[in-house]
Amino acid sequence: MTEPPIRERKRARNARKADDDPSEQSSKSPKAEQGSSTTIFYVVGAAFVGLVIYLFPEFVKTLLEPWIEFSEPTLPGYNPNLITDFSADVPKRDAIVEAFKHAWLAYERDAMGDDEYHPISQKGTNLTAAGGIGYTVIDSMDTMILMGLTEETARAREWVANNLSFERDANFNTFETTIRVLGGLLSTYHLSKNDNLYLEKALELTNRMMPVFSTKTGLPLSNINLGQKIGVGDADNNNLVSTAEVATLQLEFKYLSSVSDDDTYWKAVERVMQLINSNHPTPRLASIFMNPDNGQFVTSDIRLGSRGDSFYEYLLKQYLQTSRTEDIYRQMYEESMEAIHQHLVKTSMTSHLIYTSELIPERGPDGDMTWRLTPKQDHLVCFLGGSLMLGAVTTGALVDKVSVPPKHDELSPTGRRDWKTGVELIHTCMETHNTATGLAPEIVHFRIPSDKMDMGGIAPNDWYIKGARPGAYPPLDARYILRPETIESLFIAYRLTADKRYRDSGWKIFQAIEKHCRIETGGYASVINVDELPVRHEDKMETFMMSETLKYLFLLFSDASVIPLTDYVFNTEAHPLPVFVPSIRTGFA
Ligand SMILES: *[C@@H]1O[C@H](CO)[C@@H](O)[C@H](O)[C@H]1NC(C)=O
Ligand SMILES: *[C@@H]1O[C@H](CO)[C@@H](O)[C@H](O)[C@H]1NC(C)=O
Repeated sequence: MTEPPIRERKRARNARKADDDPSEQSSKSPKAEQGSSTTIFYVVGAAFVGLVIYLFPEFVKTLLEPWIEFSEPTLPGYNPNLITDFSADVPKRDAIVEAFKHAWLAYERDAMGDDEYHPISQKGTNLTAAGGIGYTVIDSMDTMILMGLTEETARAREWVANNLSFERDANFNTFETTIRVLGGLLSTYHLSKNDNLYLEKALELTNRMMPVFSTKTGLPLSNINLGQKIGVGDADNNNLVSTAEVATLQLEFKYLSSVSDDDTYWKAVERVMQLINSNHPTPRLASIFMNPDNGQFVTSDIRLGSRGDSFYEYLLKQYLQTSRTEDIYRQMYEESMEAIHQHLVKTSMTSHLIYTSELIPERGPDGDMTWRLTPKQDHLVCFLGGSLMLGAVTTGALVDKVSVPPKHDELSPTGRRDWKTGVELIHTCMETHNTATGLAPEIVHFRIPSDKMDMGGIAPNDWYIKGARPGAYPPLDARYILRPETIESLFIAYRLTADKRYRDSGWKIFQAIEKHCRIETGGYASVINVDELPVRHEDKMETFMMSETLKYLFLLFSDASVIPLTDYVFNTEAHPLPVFVPSIRTGFA
């Protein structure tokens, strides 16, 4: 892509300014002095016209517009027929609300208060034998409020007031508890116009969780015993902590500090970011494990899927959350996006789909470490398309107010690069919905020449579900567990472009969910193989169905004044938290 040099861009802007100032307009026709020679007249005239064109290219262009068509450089995904329209699509939006009620009312009928719901057996279960912690109720509440379901909200509030307890002597995952329960309490606190009940519960939960930070370095342990208030390491992984898990607590803890005026929470999670910043090797790709004893990254897989994903998401969102006052997060984000483009973004063999790979460390026979590139993309990575587009119009903006959709000249070169990759990744994620059900699998692999799959001539063109064989039980990769990530990206892309095609894609996914995941008696279930008809169900409705998948769909079909992206950051469980100007002095750079 060719880009105009900076100087030229500046000139174009000045020219626009001159346009508005009548005193500077140069449309007065040149007054030819009485000259003895017409040649001089023409030369002076031509020089003058040349000068006008040189000084005011935009103005001249405007004059010539009716006769000559100028082609502006456009960004990828640019739709020449776009009519920007952000008004709600009421019938579709109402259909999403109906789906939410279908899910919630079944849960409330069969399992109110239990952590998780199984719609086929119509039963609930808790995460531990010690009793529930409101996993489903609290994760769903802000969606209810946004949908205007006041009666459901009132009943859920009663449950929180009378039945919710964190006095549970068992281990809970620090990260999951933070993003679902703490995040849900905080966004509900905000959306309920500061109903103190939710803030009190958020403070109680967080105070019980604080002991996880009592390690040598301050990197939080993976689990918390909420009853005993003791941090517990992850024995399955040598007590290491996962990068995304320690770096995906910050939006919640910082917001809690800002509304409670207690900077303890803020300092604990900022310390994590400081460690990551100082110990991060270049290129800035995050291995998925860190050592809480020395604060170092441990040589382990590098990926944008599980245990990696939301680390990158929160770099950008931490920068946005505090009103772009903390430049360190923009720097960390930009360095990471640079590294992702250099090392992980790849193009598929046949249709040239953009996708992301993983890097797996391997020790060779001589003991040397090498990195093997694996063309595996989790459904989880589909958050990245929207995230890159959001980063492009914020960290990559050259103007205060970027247009909808952004114009080529409003973005920096890296902003344009990120926009392009974002648009293309969403396209790829939509391509992975080309299955028998129209649902995307949990994990796809992309073809690379060295996979030697072409032998029978029946190999897939671009991507496939690994381990899927006719007659065999479907691999875990083939499941659709009601994940939201593609829809999340479609929602962000729609808000940044107003392009109806993103709504159309979201509607297609919703219809596939209705057709294949909806359980007649109530609720939605996971599908065991997206490429098999009729589908087989797994008896589970993940809590993110109500907190994320249906919320992002609802927002996709709502008008753009509902949770504007300029005023909110979504935590990684889709709980919207307001952007604020920090009063606590921050920044470690
Ligand atoms: C889950 O925990 C709550 C609170 O202790 C309890 O009332 C409920 O019966 C439990 N549910 C199940 C299915 O065990
Ligand atoms: C909530 O607590 C009230 C009062 O203790 C009790 O009557 C009710 O059954 C509880 N509800 C649930 C769903 O556990």
